[in-house]
Amino acid sequence: DTVAWDPEDAGKSGYDHYMLKEINEQPLALRQCLRERVSELERTITVDELADLERRGPVQFVACGTSYHAALYGARLLREQGIPAQCFLASEYDARSIPITDETLVVGVTQSGETADTMSALRGANQAGATTLALTNVVGSSAARECNYVMYIRAGPEIGVAATKTFVSQQAALAMLSGVLSETHSSELIRRLRRLPDQLQQVLDESAVREIASTYVDADAYFFIGRGYNAPVALEGALKMKEITYKHAEGFAAGELKHGPLALVTEETPVFALITGPNAAKTLGNVKEVEARGAPVIAVTDQPELVEQYATHVLEVPAAGRRLTPILANVQLQLLSYWVANELGRSIDKPRNLAKSVTVE
Ligand code: G6P
Repeated sequence: DTVAWDPEDAGKSGYDHYMLKEINEQPLALRQCLRERVSELERTITVDELADLERRGPVQFVACGTSYHAALYGARLLREQGIPAQCFLASEYDARSIPITDETLVVGVTQSGETADTMSALRGANQAGATTLALTNVVGSSAARECNYVMYIRAGPEIGVAATKTFVSQQAALAMLSGVLSETHSSELIRRLRRLPDQLQQVLDESAVREIASTYVDADAYFFIGRGYNAPVALEGALKMKEITYKHAEGFAAGELKHGPLALVTEETPVFALITGPNAAKTLGNVKEVEARGAPVIAVTDQPELVEQYATHVLEVPAAGRRLTPILANVQLQLLSYWVANELGRSIDKPRNLAKSVTVE
C-alpha cells in the first residue's frame, strides 16, 4: 500500500498549517536570535554586524504591515533608553520632507528585505545622507544590500503569509538594538531576554485560547486594546485576525477607545485587552468602560488577580517585565486568530488577496 503524499505538506512537520508550525517554532527562533549576542555572564549585548556602528543621533524607523508594528515597539524601546526615535509607515515616508542629517540612523524593518515601499524609503534615506540599517530575516536581500548596516533576526524561513515567528524575532532584535545604541546596558533586560524563550514555550504549552476562539468564532467584530508596549501588540492582534479570518477586527491604544471606537462596542463584539506591566490599572479603567456596554472582555495578563473581577475570561502570560511581557501576550493573540481561522475553514497559510512579499509600491 502507498500513502498519499503531498509535497506541499512535507515541510509542515505534522502540523496542519505552516502558521501553527511557525508559531510553535518561536522559542527556537528566539534562541537563534539571541545566540552569542546576549551574555548574562558578561552583562553585555553585542551584535557583531553592528560592531562599528556608533550613533548619537535620532533614529527613524520605516516599515510595513507586521514589521511596522515591530518598529512601533522598537521605537518605544529606544526612546526609553534616551534615544529620540520616530516611526513611519514606509509608504508615507518622504526623506525630502523631514529633517535628516548625517547623524540620522534610518532603520528599515523588513522580514523579506524585498518590500517595495520599504526599499523606496531606504533609498530615499540613503540619498538624503542618512546612515541606514536593515533589520531583516533574509541574508543577501535587497534591503541588506541597500543599507550601510544589516542586522539579521535569524528566525529561519517563514512560509505562512501571515508573519508570526519573524515578528517575535524582530521584537527581540529591537530590544537588543536598544541595548547596542544606548550607553547603558541594562542587566535586567539581559536577564529577562535570556528567560524569554522558556517563558514563550510556557505560553504555547498552557494556552487556553483555543476554547475562547471557539466561543467567539461568530462574533461580528473583534477589538484589541493595549497601552505602551502593548499598543503595537493590539494593532498586530487585529491585523492577524483580519489577514487570516477575514473578520472585522480593529486595534487601538487603550486610551483612545473612549474617543470614538467605543461607539462600536456592543454585546456582540469581544474586546481583547492586553493588561500587563505597570500600566495595568489604567487599562483596567478602559476595560470597565467596555464592560458597561455589555461586551465580553478577554484579558491577556500577567496579573490575573487584578483583572479577574472585570474580565469574562483571563488568558495568563508569565511576567517578563514591562518591555518583554507584551511579546508573550502577542503569542496568545496569534493563537486566537489561528484557531478562529481554523474553525472557519480559511486558507490560513495563503489568505486571499495577500502575498508574503509585496514588491509593488
Ligand atoms: C506583506 C505581508 C505581511 C508583512 C508585510 C511587510 O504585506 O503579507 O505579513 O508584514 O508584507 O513585509 P516585510 O517583508 O517587509 O516585513
